[in-house]
Amino acid sequence: MKELSTIAQAVQASTTMAIDAMFKQMKADGVDVIGFGAGEPDFDTPDEIKAAGIAAIEQNVTRYTPAAGTVELRKAVCERMQADCGLSYKPNQVVATSGAKHAVYLALRALVNPGDEVILPAPYWVSYYELIKMVGGVPVVVTATEAEHFKLTPEKLSAAITPKTKCLILNNPSNPTGMMYGEEELCGIADVVVKNDLYVISDEIYYGLVYDGKPFVSFASLSSEVWERTILINGVSKSYAMTGWRIGYACANDQVAKVMANYVSHSTGSASAISQKASVTALTAPQEKIEEMRQAFEARRNYIVERMNAIPGVSCIRPEGAFYVMMNLEQLIGKTIHGVTITNDDVFADAFLKHGLVAVVPGSGFGAPNFVRWSYATSLDNIKEGLNRLEKFLAD
Ligand SMILES: Cc1ncc(COP(=O)(O)O)c(C=O)c1O
Repeated sequence: MKELSTIAQAVQASTTMAIDAMFKQMKADGVDVIGFGAGEPDFDTPDEIKAAGIAAIEQNVTRYTPAAGTVELRKAVCERMQADCGLSYKPNQVVATSGAKHAVYLALRALVNPGDEVILPAPYWVSYYELIKMVGGVPVVVTATEAEHFKLTPEKLSAAITPKTKCLILNNPSNPTGMMYGEEELCGIADVVVKNDLYVISDEIYYGLVYDGKPFVSFASLSSEVWERTILINGVSKSYAMTGWRIGYACANDQVAKVMANYVSHSTGSASAISQKASVTALTAPQEKIEEMRQAFEARRNYIVERMNAIPGVSCIRPEGAFYVMMNLEQLIGKTIHGVTITNDDVFADAFLKHGLVAVVPGSGFGAPNFVRWSYATSLDNIKEGLNRLEKFLAD
């Protein structure tokens, strides 16, 4: 038989899935394991949003919608972005997609020719790396260290730019680090972007989960020149506990939005009509429930950071958003725990799952060796028990 596509064969399975598969198998076998791998809120979708989905089915809102989404949803996105981020978009500049992940893919499709370079700050969300390759682009990874709070600096960005650079992917707040760029940091990056005429795919899916009362600043809001070059990615998955509804969106200038809408029309077609209706309610209803969830995440963040930093051998910096924390393992490298010599984060995660009965995600898949990611999208009781187990695992 003839070979499969070279581009398709180069796509790697998600590394976050491997440990998850082992965790699920252990759970199915009745082992008392606790998982910190989840990339989704543990809360249920709020009732009024669920009711809107049920009503949509009952009212036969069950047909195709325009490829880029209903005007009602795109208007709701414009209003929410205006209210929360001070951004001005028209409905024709919004493209609703089947999840934010697909919006990132379409944005890359709209911008990248084969061989174009895409700057990807590490630690990065695993899918970005593969998505860049899937469109024939070349990922140019620029590592931001823990000492730099895992944030790209304008200097490092400038140094990575070549004549082939087409765009930069920014994720703010970040998965996997939980760090958030403030206005000044974003302005520094924006200066380099505008000077070098780059596009920016700004994935702000965690913008609703920000702590310590810090203001969230949307990249596109910095200036009209920045707005013109930014493809904003967002969605209802994380802020509204709606991961399974599969609604994301992109906001961009007319030209980019049109190209992305054309791609939607020939690939997935419109996102689910029912989910679009539910998402209108999510975006337009009073946002108190969202605030309750945000506060719960903040309390968990406070607990996990304090406990982790009190355990000898590991440490973490304080995340400012999302629901992840990166645990630094450098002090454990070369040590033997439960008969296993910890040579890297993969070995640690494997040993911690088998002997400590806790699932965390190795950092290497995020471009962050010697770190593991804990997601605190789980109950405070689980978090307490997980850290008790970490303490015990390291003490043995
Ligand atoms: C940074 C980032 N962007 C996008 C997504 C995908 O969101 P969705 O479930 O809406 O496709 C995720 C999910 O983990 C994410 O962490």
